[in-house]
Amino acid sequence: MKFDSLSPMPADPILGLMTQYRQDSHPQKIDLGVGVYKDEAGNTPILACVKAAEQHRIDTEETKVYIGPTGSADFNSLISELCFGITHQVIEQNRVRTVSTPGGTGALRVAADFIKRVNPNAVIWVSDPTWANHTGLFEAAGITVKTYPYYDHENKTLKFEEMLACLEQVSSDDVVLLHACCHNPSGMDLTQAQWDQIAVLAKDKGFTPLIDMAYQGFGDGVDADAYGVRKVADTVSNLILCSSCSKNFGLYRERIGACSIVGKDANAADIAFSVLLYVVRCIYSMPPAHGAAIVETILASQELKQQWLDELAVMRNRINGNRQMLVDQLKALGVKRDFSFISNQKGMFSFLGITPDQVAEIQTKHSVYMVDSSRISIAGIGEGNVEYLAKSIADIL
Ligand code: LMR
Repeated sequence: MKFDSLSPMPADPILGLMTQYRQDSHPQKIDLGVGVYKDEAGNTPILACVKAAEQHRIDTEETKVYIGPTGSADFNSLISELCFGITHQVIEQNRVRTVSTPGGTGALRVAADFIKRVNPNAVIWVSDPTWANHTGLFEAAGITVKTYPYYDHENKTLKFEEMLACLEQVSSDDVVLLHACCHNPSGMDLTQAQWDQIAVLAKDKGFTPLIDMAYQGFGDGVDADAYGVRKVADTVSNLILCSSCSKNFGLYRERIGACSIVGKDANAADIAFSVLLYVVRCIYSMPPAHGAAIVETILASQELKQQWLDELAVMRNRINGNRQMLVDQLKALGVKRDFSFISNQKGMFSFLGITPDQVAEIQTKHSVYMVDSSRISIAGIGEGNVEYLAKSIADIL
C-alpha cells in the first residue's frame, strides 16, 4: 500500500468555508457558512445554563472510568423524553432504546451501520436537497443513497405532491430520511397536515422512517418542532431518530447527540438495542461523557431546564428576527427580486437563490461567505451587518 497513490479530496463544502473566513482580513466580512448560532456581536457564547451545569459536574463528578457503549442512562432517558414527549405511547410502552453518540453526526453513522445490519441492501432516500454530509455519511457505511423531490428552488415551495408520489414507490425494505424541523439547507418544513400524511404513508408502505432532529427548538419551540417525530412514532412500529444537542444546547464541540430506535414492542426493542450496542462498539466503543453530563444536569433540574428554554427562545427569536430584518433591508434598498420567502422559512438556513458564480462573486468582492448552493446561515446576520449584506446582495444581483 502506498499513500502516494491517493488523490486529494476537496475541502468539505461547509467546514472549508470556516477556514477561508478565518483567514480573511476584510473588516466587514460576514460568515453565513456553517450552521452555528451567533449573537449580535458575532460570538457563539456558552449558554449560562451550560456553564452552571458544568460547574455542578466539576464539583460532583467522582470518576472518569469508562461509561460503556450506551453512554449515560440518565441522559438517554431524558433526551428521549425531550424528543418524544414524556407521555408518548412509545415511552410508556417501553419501546424506545437510546444510545448517547458523538454529536448528531455520530448518531447518523450509528444509524447507518445499524441499517446495514438490518438489511445490507437497504436504500436510504434523502430529500433533494439535504444536508451536504448525509450522502457521504451513508455511502461511507455502504448504503445506497437516492433522493426524493423536496424543495422547489424556482417557486420557493415544497414539492410535496412529487415527494409523496416518489415515496409511494419506496420499498418496505428501505429507509426514508426526514428532517424533523428547520430543514437543512432549505428552511422549508413539512406542515403538521403533511407530517400526518407522511406518517400514514410510512405505515402503509412499510418503509422505515429515519428522522434527523438537529435543530429541536430553533423552529417554533421544543414541542412544536417535535410534532413530526411524535406523529410518526404514533403511527409506525419501527423508527430511527437521530438527535443532536450541538445547536439547541450550544454544545457543538462537546459532540453530544443520541440515536434512538423504536421497536414494535419492548422485546423487539431489546433485540434491536443489542445490535445497536454492537455497532457502537465496532465504531468508537463508547461515546464521550461530558456533553451528556451537561445536558442531563440541565434537563433533570427544573430551574436549569427553564433557564435553558429561555435561552433557547432568545436564540430562536433572534434568528426569526434576522430573517425579517434581511427581507426588510433588501426591500428598503429597492431590490426588485422578492425575498419574502426568507421570512416564512424556519430554522438556521435558507437558500438565498443566487447562482454559484454570484456566490463566488459576493465572497471575493464583499467577503460574504456562504455555501456554493447559496445556503445562508441566518444566525450570521445582525443589526450591525445587515445593511452591508443587503448592499452586497444588491450589488451582485
Ligand atoms: C451545518 O450544516 O452547517 C452544520 O450542521 C454543521 C456541519 O457539520 O455541517
